[in-house]
Amino acid sequence: MFKILVTGGAGFIGSNLVNKLLDLGHEVVVIDDLSSGKKEYLNPVAKFYHIDINDKKVNDIFKAESFDYVCHLAAQIDVRKSVENMTFDNQVNVLGGINILKNCHNFNVKKIIFSSSGGAAYGFPDKIPTKEHHPTYPVSPYGINKICFEKYLNYYYKVFGQKYIALRLANVYGPRQYKGGEAGVIANFTSNAIAQKKSFIYGDGLQTRDYIYVDDVVEAFVLSIQSDFIGELNVGTGIEKNLLEVVEAIEASLGSKLEIEYQEAKLGEERRSALDASLAKEKLNWEAKIDLNEGIKRTIEWASNNNFPS
Ligand SMILES: NC(=O)c1ccc[n+]([C@@H]2O[C@H](COP(=O)([O-])OP(=O)(O)OC[C@H]3O[C@@H](n4cnc5c(N)ncnc54)[C@H](O)[C@@H]3O)[C@@H](O)[C@H]2O)c1
Repeated sequence: MFKILVTGGAGFIGSNLVNKLLDLGHEVVVIDDLSSGKKEYLNPVAKFYHIDINDKKVNDIFKAESFDYVCHLAAQIDVRKSVENMTFDNQVNVLGGINILKNCHNFNVKKIIFSSSGGAAYGFPDKIPTKEHHPTYPVSPYGINKICFEKYLNYYYKVFGQKYIALRLANVYGPRQYKGGEAGVIANFTSNAIAQKKSFIYGDGLQTRDYIYVDDVVEAFVLSIQSDFIGELNVGTGIEKNLLEVVEAIEASLGSKLEIEYQEAKLGEERRSALDASLAKEKLNWEAKIDLNEGIKRTIEWASNNNFPS
């Protein structure tokens, strides 16, 4: 069993990961500034440091704790905010990451596993589903900073031997994703439906995404800890679903119609996205297990039984 740091462990994916790692018997420590993460999601069994990943005191935590592995998920995740304030996005998603990475190297962490973004990495790809070696020309500062930090990971591996895996996640959804977030169309639509509010589709609704259930993503992190692979891996289903299909799946699960209002398409939004995850299958023996209908059913069950935290 290992001692594992999860940065962003109060967030949607991070808190699901913390619970799984504790279930597996690992000792887990969380660093989170609670900027978007929720106190309610902190597992009391995991030691919690309420601190910004940019803080110099992160160094003292690494020194005191001696982590075996680090799962680095803390991030500014709002694509629109990254456009409005590129400097802040860079501060958290690149400079904050560098602070974590340097400490991993200085305190002999065996491997760092980073939550990169497959949805944002490839921009407008020539080929869908997209493989890892496809050129990366992100169309948002968020995507640029995710790829930028991947390059620091690779640099630290090549020059200092710090091992890493960058998991390029597709559009993640599931229990604990909070409404209002840019990434969470399924969280937004289901919470609106339960609150009997209308949802908005920007554009014609035919834009596609690769929707991956959070438990499958957590499994990819767990397998990454055990793996010898170094580099970037797509984590997605390979299946494109457009927004109208997502609406249909939610309606089928709820047994009622959603109230939808169409608005003007957002500038710079990727039209299509899906990830080829055959490398993750080959290297981690990972593949998505939960299909969209089942994932949406589980998400609605959770949303109906839990009030979304504010
Ligand atoms: N949700 C998705 O579809 C998706 C897709 C691709 C990649 N990712 C990546 O996965 C990771 C987790 O995303 P999520 O959807 O769970 O989002 P989230 O907002 O729920 O989680 C991010 C966590 O990081 C914390 N955080 C933010 N800035 C911090 C800072 N400066 N110092 C310390 N903690 C800080 C937040 O409080 C939050 O708990 C992020 O790195 C995100 O970019 C998410």
